Amino acid sequence: MVQLAVLGGGRMGEALVSGLRDAGWDLESIAIAELDPERRRVLEERFPGARIVPSPAWAVADADIVVVAVKPVDVGAALAASADVLTAEALIVSLAAGVPLAVLEGHAPDRPVVRAMPNTPALVGHGAAAIAPGRHATSAHLEAAEGILGAVGTVVRLPEEHLDAVTALSGSGPAYLFLVAEALVEAGVLAGLNRDVADDLVRQTFLGAAHLLAGPESPSALREAVTSPGGTTAAALRVLEARGVRAAFLDAVAAAAARSRELGDAASTP
Ligand SMILES: NC(=O)c1ccc[n+]([C@@H]2O[C@H](COP(=O)([O-])OP(=O)(O)OC[C@H]3O[C@@H](n4cnc5c(N)ncnc54)[C@H](OP(=O)(O)O)[C@@H]3O)[C@@H](O)[C@H]2O)c1
Repeated sequence: MVQLAVLGGGRMGEALVSGLRDAGWDLESIAIAELDPERRRVLEERFPGARIVPSPAWAVADADIVVVAVKPVDVGAALAASADVLTAEALIVSLAAGVPLAVLEGHAPDRPVVRAMPNTPALVGHGAAAIAPGRHATSAHLEAAEGILGAVGTVVRLPEEHLDAVTALSGSGPAYLFLVAEALVEAGVLAGLNRDVADDLVRQTFLGAAHLLAGPESPSALREAVTSPGGTTAAALRVLEARGVRAAFLDAVAAAAARSRELGDAASTP
């Protein structure tokens, strides 16, 4: 049985373990290192059978896979605390946003490392993540990382150079959609609807549209299907296009990717 250690029992660590449990993983094969005693109590109740420990070193001793789910700023400390006990074969999968493979490998020399870029819908089992292999990671390691992250959403494999684009698209993407949702609620209020009603209608519209997007039809085909000639949607879309919404998204994602590159460069500078 594969032994898994999760460093950091915060939101992402908890979401991952609960996804793995729902996917049939035996909690007895999972150890979670969490510094905060209050949080450890919560995790013990939530995951009976899992080992919830206060130190990374206790969690990783017999681990085949170590998932790093602490804040980016704590990655060095968590890996340093594990270094002496970690086996040479243990695979390290880092979820820490913006921490480059070079930095991770600096903390875990000669070990297989996979860097992942997950997003917040992983917290509800609908994440979109990309994974990139480090210098010593094989396709078997990538498969193992996919097996873990696949418990909370979809996973694509990419070289690390594409992770800035992934950060900009699916990492920050939920925020773009939340902004659109906020704006639509305001638009509903302006059009005369009660705020609660507008809020309910917008949330359900997003959920319904997301289900349609999960089907085989392309976003363009779905949009065309609700755009009757000379109709209300066509009138609205003309305004959005005239205001440059499409161009704004292109510029926004490019800006986020550039910012991700800057932050990655700063994190790589000793
Ligand atoms: N949340 C998301 O949707 C999301 C999306 C993309 C990427 N990520 C990445 O996932 C990682 C985790 O994010 P999160 O939202 O789950 O953060 P979080 O809720 O703050 O969880 C991190 C947890 O790790 C604990 N911790 C810190 N240092 C530790 C150490 N040395 N050993 C053991 N435990 C330690 C923290 O305890 P204390 O509170 O006591 O410090 C905290 O409970 C981050 O690197 C983030 O970039 C998260």
